[in-house]
Amino acid sequence: MAGLRRKLKVLLMFMMVNLFIFIVSRSGGPDKSEESKVLVPSKRFWSKLTPSQAFWNLQQQRLDFQGNPVLAYAYNNDSGNVDAIGPIPDWLNGTGPNSDPCQPDYSVTSHVADYNSLPVRLKDFLLYMRCRSYPLVVDQPDICRRTPGGESPYLLIAVKSLASHFDRRQAIRESWGRAGVLANKTVVTVFLLGNSTAVDHHPDLSEMLRYENARHRDILQWNYRDTFFNLTIKEVLFLDWMSTRCPGAQYIFKGDDDVFVNTLGVLDFLKGLSGSRAKDLFIGDVITNAGPHRDKKVKYFIPESLFLGVYPPYAGGGGYLFSGNLTGRLLWASRHVALYPIDDVYTGMCLRKLGLAPEKHKGFRTFGIEEKYRRNPCAYRSLLLVHSRTPQEMIQIWAWLNDTKLNCQ
Ligand SMILES: *[C@@H]1O[C@H](CO)[C@@H](O)[C@H](O)[C@H]1NC(C)=O
Ligand SMILES: *[C@@H]1O[C@H](CO)[C@@H](O)[C@H](O)[C@H]1NC(C)=O
Ligand SMILES: *[C@@H]1O[C@H](CO)[C@@H](O)[C@H](O)[C@H]1NC(C)=O
Ligand SMILES: *[C@@H]1O[C@H](CO)[C@@H](O)[C@H](O)[C@H]1NC(C)=O
Ligand SMILES: *[C@@H]1O[C@H](CO)[C@@H](O)[C@H](O)[C@H]1NC(C)=O
Ligand SMILES: *[C@@H]1O[C@H](CO)[C@@H](O)[C@H](O)[C@H]1NC(C)=O
Ligand SMILES: *[C@@H]1O[C@H](CO)[C@@H](O)[C@H](O)[C@H]1NC(C)=O
Repeated sequence: MAGLRRKLKVLLMFMMVNLFIFIVSRSGGPDKSEESKVLVPSKRFWSKLTPSQAFWNLQQQRLDFQGNPVLAYAYNNDSGNVDAIGPIPDWLNGTGPNSDPCQPDYSVTSHVADYNSLPVRLKDFLLYMRCRSYPLVVDQPDICRRTPGGESPYLLIAVKSLASHFDRRQAIRESWGRAGVLANKTVVTVFLLGNSTAVDHHPDLSEMLRYENARHRDILQWNYRDTFFNLTIKEVLFLDWMSTRCPGAQYIFKGDDDVFVNTLGVLDFLKGLSGSRAKDLFIGDVITNAGPHRDKKVKYFIPESLFLGVYPPYAGGGGYLFSGNLTGRLLWASRHVALYPIDDVYTGMCLRKLGLAPEKHKGFRTFGIEEKYRRNPCAYRSLLLVHSRTPQEMIQIWAWLNDTKLNCQ
């Protein structure tokens, strides 16, 4: 016990010194002559945490507390720590009900102040917020080895789709998402599906999906309700799938099934990357200084009782590109960030956890392009992604891009 205490003290001292160095270096730093002088804070630098009034923030405080040695020490009052602020309050230590996280958590009905007046989709989200694993019912275990030459794909294209969107998937297969070799690079495409359930009044399309998958073998399906607020589940499950089924992919494009992607342009862009830019790449249509919508009528409405604060920079979920090397780190980060109902914001939160921020590229047009350019073949040459395009438009634009007679000077 005494040994452990000593270790904790040494660790704490080390962290305080590091924090100090961090603060000094952030604030521009003192004179060069003073740089070698180490100043140790004379007083404790932590203070008692107060529970957030917003449910997501509170869950995040708990996750942040777990496995944080400084806070564990700060709250520990049985080791002669004169600066202790303990004991650990129940709200911080308690992880909520310890039962199966995939059973509905009815404690939210009393912990979220205005639960009863929230839209049903938010109630559903809150009840299942702790559940992160759902069974994979359609898998492609060897899709990343089924490549020409059997090597990992250079680009993995992952498209968020819904069971009923057969035509969008087929248009993608016939255009920008065609699997195989493109510009001498291996491309693999998968479609990410949940279950379009009877609960949400979807017709039963499972037989047609079965046929489609037998023909194309590019569908991944997990058994959870495929709804807008469950897209974060899709993200987390996909990262998990990647880490086991396709860990060698060099780059990943993830996006919606109603965007057009200039895959040739993407490959051309990736060709020029190296070093840490290639390793930490996360690029798209980045939105900064955004916050939750407080208008109940908006699809993205998030009440104050769920989230307080601003969003980190995030790349619009219509489509973004990131490095395979980041996948494992994003998966790790996701386990330390409470699920949030908006998937692209959630991914931004995970990046922030890793100390990274997405990069903006003006070729990603998740908000579309000017209408007058819609039918201008040359407009698409310099773009990487355009939202939104119909299946017919996808095939048309792809043909334009492949037309060598087209002269765009
Ligand atoms: C820490 O413990 C001591 C005695 O064990 C007590 O006097 C003191 O009030 C405690 N401090 C806090 C912040 O709980
Ligand atoms: C915090 O929770 C852990 C695990 O649930 C438990 O062992 C410990 O006694 C709790 N500590 C306090 C101070 O409540
Ligand atoms: C295609 O890529 C392979 C290795 O990935 C390389 O050896 C070959 O030279 C490339 N061919 C062309 C035409 O670039
Ligand atoms: C999807 O949900 C329906 C019920 O709505 C169920 O019958 C079906 O088995 C589920 N499909 C999968 C693939 O789990
Ligand atoms: C997400 O999926 C789970 C599992 O099917 C479901 O219980 C829950 O209601 C869904 N949440 C939303 C917001 O649709
Ligand atoms: C990521 O890149 C670093 C540096 O090149 C390397 O050491 C590490 O093994 C890579 N990780 C993965 C998962 O590829
Ligand atoms: C481009 O057109 C050529 C000739 O029509 C065709 O062979 C090729 O497959 C097309 N490439 C793509 C990427 O569609």
